[in-house]
Amino acid sequence: PVLVVDFGAQYAQLIARRVREAHVYSEIVPSSMPVSDMLAKRPAAIILSGGPSSVYEAGAPQVDPGLFGAGVPVFGICYGFQAMAVALAGEASHTGQREFGGTPITVAAGGGVLLRDLPAEQSVWMSHGDCVTAAPAGFVVTAASPGAPVAAFEDTGRRLAGVQFHPEVAHTPHGQEVLRRFLYDIAGIEPTWTSNNIIEEQVEAVRARVGSKRVLCALSGGVDSAVAAALVHRAVGDQLTCVFVDHGLLRAGEAEQVEKDYVAATGINLKVVDASEQFLGALAGVTDPEQKRKIVGREFIRVFERAAREIDAEGHVEYLVQGTLYPDVVESGGGTGTANIKSHHNVGGLPDDLQFELVEPLRTLFKDEVRQIGAALGLPEEIVMRHPFPGPGLSIRIIGAVDEERLAILRAADLIAREELTAAGLDRSVWQFPVVLLADVRSVGVQGDGRTYGHPIVLRPVSSDDAMTADWSRLPHELIAKISTRITNEVREINRVVVDVTSKPPGTIEWE
Ligand code: XMP
Repeated sequence: PVLVVDFGAQYAQLIARRVREAHVYSEIVPSSMPVSDMLAKRPAAIILSGGPSSVYEAGAPQVDPGLFGAGVPVFGICYGFQAMAVALAGEASHTGQREFGGTPITVAAGGGVLLRDLPAEQSVWMSHGDCVTAAPAGFVVTAASPGAPVAAFEDTGRRLAGVQFHPEVAHTPHGQEVLRRFLYDIAGIEPTWTSNNIIEEQVEAVRARVGSKRVLCALSGGVDSAVAAALVHRAVGDQLTCVFVDHGLLRAGEAEQVEKDYVAATGINLKVVDASEQFLGALAGVTDPEQKRKIVGREFIRVFERAAREIDAEGHVEYLVQGTLYPDVVESGGGTGTANIKSHHNVGGLPDDLQFELVEPLRTLFKDEVRQIGAALGLPEEIVMRHPFPGPGLSIRIIGAVDEERLAILRAADLIAREELTAAGLDRSVWQFPVVLLADVRSVGVQGDGRTYGHPIVLRPVSSDDAMTADWSRLPHELIAKISTRITNEVREINRVVVDVTSKPPGTIEWE
């Protein structure tokens, strides 16, 4: 792999994704990992990420100079670039000239390997207070900015290079090209990380692991479990059984989509459990968001356990497929105790006495890779490109108690919003489009000649890369108008449509 050494900013994941977009496999490791452990992973290259520290600060994470003597290509970015300069006896200092945001750089004649044939003047994304003031011996300086006399350097003989700017962000237009130059031309890596190779590798790995044993998977209707199951099915065929729990909190058409389209595309054994009565019974009268989440989680386990036992009675099941993604792995391994903002319902909370071994074929993948693999496995676009939908479903999009009638109102409004978004061709430009029913709020309206006293519906379209942060989507006013008109015309109980214009933070994406 290419190792991305995380110096403690959010950049490491983005760098890892960009490397993979260049079809090279990458993994994130903490900067506290000893160099010997890094080298034991036999890295094709090492990338030192940016970070919030200042190189000369007490306690700032250092780079062990031993890293550079091992013959492994190394690329430093921002803080990693400065740390690299210092470790190799160059110089970095606090010049007091900060650069933040889009910044022009001037490429030196030739541009070296990293910047050759790219525009001599170009904009890059900077975010630094310190800068490299002298490149280490043997390095060629290939670019400068007003605040960074050394903005890029390279020593192609030793296969070492670095940049002060952030090539991984979209605001650096030639950034991906710079990264490719490092990977292909300086480090000499072949771009072989493609969907088909990933599928082949994972299919082999699952076969080797599972042998002739039986495997179970809980399908949620979401992309991750759908792709994970399809991958495992490709590996072990009918040894896999999927369980889909319809908790009655799904949107219009969702259960059917899983039952028909998904099975048609994959040929997977699917057991559908209609448990809506059980869930709605348990949720009756409950208004507290955390209570709702806990109830759905608990009931899910009960239903799933029962289904699993039935399947197990037909033949012993040893493995459980989970659609865990790489960011979950990185974040839970990060060790930083993040506050529990919402308890996310997940199959991960299965009780110990079920005693399955986990099969997680997507553990090394990012969401966009999972989608590509889903497509390569032949899953329908409606499943592969689906927006994320929370496990507790519509229960946390009804503000107030949940019942059949309210679910029906929300489903109708939600379907209109989704239909219109799709008709406008904007599915891809929106990360997610929750529609929320304020079931305990009423407002006065007028329709025909009469007074109405109905409920508001909230439209919550957001754009995001990873759901950790989000911005409200600036949907065209015409589209919002159309959705509003249709909802108030077609859903009798709704007389008001509002748009949520809160980013995350401070709002979360879901209302509960
Ligand atoms: P929030 O509301 O925390 O949501 O900004 C972030 C993302 O997570 C989804 N979400 C969930 N997904 N189980 C899930 O599988 C859950 O309990 C859950 N709660 C929120 C939400 O839709 C958004 O994509």
